[in-house]
Amino acid sequence: MGVTFIGCGAAAPAKIVSNDALSKFVDTSDEWIASRTGIRQRHLAEAGDSIVSLGAAAAQQALAMAGVDAADIDMVLLATSTPDDLYGSACLIQASIGANRAVAFDLSAACSGFVFGLVTASQFIQTGSYQNILVIGADIHSRWVDWQDRNTCVLFGDGAGAVVLQAGQQENLLGFELRSDGSQNDALHLRYEGTNIELSDDVQVKQGGFGRLMMNGKEVYRFAVNAVPDVIDKALFKAQLQVADVDWLILHQANQRIMDAVADRLGLPPEKIVSNVAEYGNTSAASIPIALNAAVRSGKIKPGDTIATSGFGAGLSWGAAILRWG
Ligand code: UT7
Repeated sequence: MGVTFIGCGAAAPAKIVSNDALSKFVDTSDEWIASRTGIRQRHLAEAGDSIVSLGAAAAQQALAMAGVDAADIDMVLLATSTPDDLYGSACLIQASIGANRAVAFDLSAACSGFVFGLVTASQFIQTGSYQNILVIGADIHSRWVDWQDRNTCVLFGDGAGAVVLQAGQQENLLGFELRSDGSQNDALHLRYEGTNIELSDDVQVKQGGFGRLMMNGKEVYRFAVNAVPDVIDKALFKAQLQVADVDWLILHQANQRIMDAVADRLGLPPEKIVSNVAEYGNTSAASIPIALNAAVRSGKIKPGDTIATSGFGAGLSWGAAILRWG
């Protein structure tokens, strides 16, 4: 069985915060943010927003485009590193959209989550186990960044995107390459922080919560511009395609300069880059499906187009997939 991609959707919180508005409570400027990253604004989740509400909204749009009933979904795979519940948020999305037959679980791989999720879900279709799968990428980093740290807090935005995968005669997942390197974990992390509690003389546990996102921006930048072209090249090789066969490059939307540098290294012209980092900032696992959704709905990406996509970030983790839309 082949994997086809038949629907997409996206959702973002209503609250939009421009760089100028951000400069009122963070020591930064529109000039610094825009020139270093290309970001102009971001959507920030307010009290009523959640991974479940955003993920479910994106999923419903994707189902409507696909013409698939929620009851016919076999699996809901939610890529998120900022769940509403540490035990996972996929089940609540499953219940919220009425995908009553579906197994639902979270996959945590930060900004690589959507690509890892897409490839993971595809395996269940290629083995013939499942027919219809919803892959959702959703993150709310505004709840986890340090709003006193201007090096990181200006970069992130919140949102969700979703894609419906269906078993078909054609194979539209043409190639992929996934990588991890835990030895570079210090460059980007959001760690558990607890304090020791003595339950008795010889029993001690550690209790607390998660800290704040920490990133060495320069290191992650260097890593991304080297590692991403490499996995795209390898995924293209597996797909038996050349760079010239790629119609669209949809990278994790972390920084316009990273997207430009990767396209340049691959030899792809800038007009093939799909980018909305200016409007959304870095929405982590949501960034690729939000960008894909806008490009499909505007008619830019058409059925049959070849897309090279790549996610990269905490882990460190990175990966690329080559797919044909439709
Ligand atoms: O999604 C996960 C993947 N993450 C990424 O891909 C992020 C990768 N890294 C980057 O995109 C870039 O490294 C950043 C956008 C994070 C930073 O850009 P940069 O060109 O590497 O800037 P920098 O770290 O060299 O900072 C230069 C200066 C510093 O001042 P000094 O020490 O040179 O005086 C910073 O203190 O800019 C200062 N600075 C700021 N100034 C105004 C840092 N953040 C800000 C800010 N506003 N928000």
